[in-house]
Amino acid sequence: MRKIVILLGISGLLLGGAALAQQGANRGAAAIDPAKLPAQNGKVLANDPLPYWAFAVATHPWAPQDPTEKRRLKGSKKVFTTAEVNDRWNVPDWFPASHPKMPTIVEHGRKPEVSACAFCHLPNGQGKPENSSVAGLPANYIVQQVADMRSGARKSSTNRMNSIKSMVKIAEHSNDAEVKIAADYFSKLKYKKWIRVVETHMVPKTDIDRRNMLIVVPGPKEPIGKRIIETPEDEHAIDSRGSMIGFVAYVPKGSVARGKKLVESGAGGFPCAACHGPQFHGNGDVPPLAGRSPSQLTRQLYDFKTGARNGPGAAMMKPQVEKMTADQRIDIVAYLSSLNP
Ligand code: HEC
Ligand code: HEC
Repeated sequence: MRKIVILLGISGLLLGGAALAQQGANRGAAAIDPAKLPAQNGKVLANDPLPYWAFAVATHPWAPQDPTEKRRLKGSKKVFTTAEVNDRWNVPDWFPASHPKMPTIVEHGRKPEVSACAFCHLPNGQGKPENSSVAGLPANYIVQQVADMRSGARKSSTNRMNSIKSMVKIAEHSNDAEVKIAADYFSKLKYKKWIRVVETHMVPKTDIDRRNMLIVVPGPKEPIGKRIIETPEDEHAIDSRGSMIGFVAYVPKGSVARGKKLVESGAGGFPCAACHGPQFHGNGDVPPLAGRSPSQLTRQLYDFKTGARNGPGAAMMKPQVEKMTADQRIDIVAYLSSLNP
C-alpha cells in the first residue's frame, strides 16, 4: 500500500511538478489534481508547461451572485442589476457615448448560440484577460480568426477554459455576414491604453474567479516567481462589464527591458517588428500587439508553439516561437503590453 502511494506521488510529481512549481506558493497543492491536467490540443511541450495564470480555470466553486443586486459605476448614470449585467443577449452599456452605436450582433447577438460579442469583448472592444481585445484589429484578421475557430484550425492548448469554449461555439454558429458586421465595427474602434504594467518581486495573493480571471483575495503578498499576474484595477467595475477601467499586470523585475531586447533580436526567430510594425501597431492584416493583455498574448504565443493555433497566418508565427522559452515569453509579453497602443 505504502509503495503504491509513493509511486503515485512520484508520478504525480513528474506530471505535475513543473506546473505545481508555477502555481505560486500560496495556492496550495491540494487544489491541483495532476490527473486533471489539461487535455492538450497540439504538442505537449517539454520544459514549458501550460502557464496556469494565462489559461486560468477556477479550482473551486464560487458562491452564486444575487441577481437582484443593483449596480452602479463611477462616471455612469445608469443602474443595472446583476441579472442584467449577466444577460448575454442584451449587453449592459454603461457608457454609450464612448463608442459608436453597436450593431445588433455586437449588442444582442443571435439566439440561441451566438452570444453578443460585446458581452465578453465589451462595447468598446477593449476586452479582458480571459478573452481578447478586439478593438483596432484589422477587419480581415478578425474575419480570418473566427473562420479559423469555426474550421477547428485555431484551438486553445487546453479545453478547460469556459470563455474560450464559448468563443469557439460562437464561431461555429455565426455566419459570414454577421462576423463581417462585427469585424467592421471593432476594427474601427481605437484600442486605448488599458493595462498598467508594474515590475515587482511580490504580488497580491490571487484566486481564479468564475470567469477565468485572476482576482485579488485577502492574504499576505507572495513572490511573483515566473508569472504575470493580471487583475482588474476595479473588480466591481469589471464584474459589471464596465469598459472604462482596465487592468494592472504585475510582471517580474527586469522583464520589460529583457523583453525589449528579445523582440528586437527576434528571440531565435525574426525581429517581431518586421511583421507587426515598428511600434507594434500592426501592419496590413498582421495584428497589433502594443498594450494588449499579457495573458491574451501569452496564450497566443503558447498556442502557436503547441500547434493548437494553426490557421493559415500561424505559419508565419511558428518559426518565431519554436525556440522561445517560457521565461523569454514572459519577458516579451511584459514588454509588449507595456507599450502605448
Ligand atoms: C462568451 C465570451 C465571448 C463572446 C460572446 C465572444 N467572444 Fe470572441 N473571444 C472570446 C475569447 C475567450 C477569446 C480568446 C480566445 C483565446 O485566447 O484563445 C476570443 C477571441 C476572439 C477573437 C480573436 C482575437 C485575436 O486577437 O486573435 C476574435 C476575432 C473574436 N473573439 C471575435 C468575436 C466576435 C466577432 C464575437 C461576436 C460574434 C465574439 N468574439 C463573441 C470570447 C468571446
Ligand atoms: C514573419 C512575420 C511575423 C513575425 C516575424 C512575427 N509575427 Fe507575430 N504574427 C504574424 C501573423 C501573420 C500573425 C497572425 C497569425 C494568425 O493569423 O493566426 C501573428 C500573430 C501574432 C500574435 C497573436 C495576436 C493576437 O491578437 O492573437 C502574437 C501575440 C504575435 N504574433 C507575437 C509575435 C512576437 C512576440 C514576435 C517576435 C518574437 C512575432 N509575433 C513575430 C506574423 C509575424
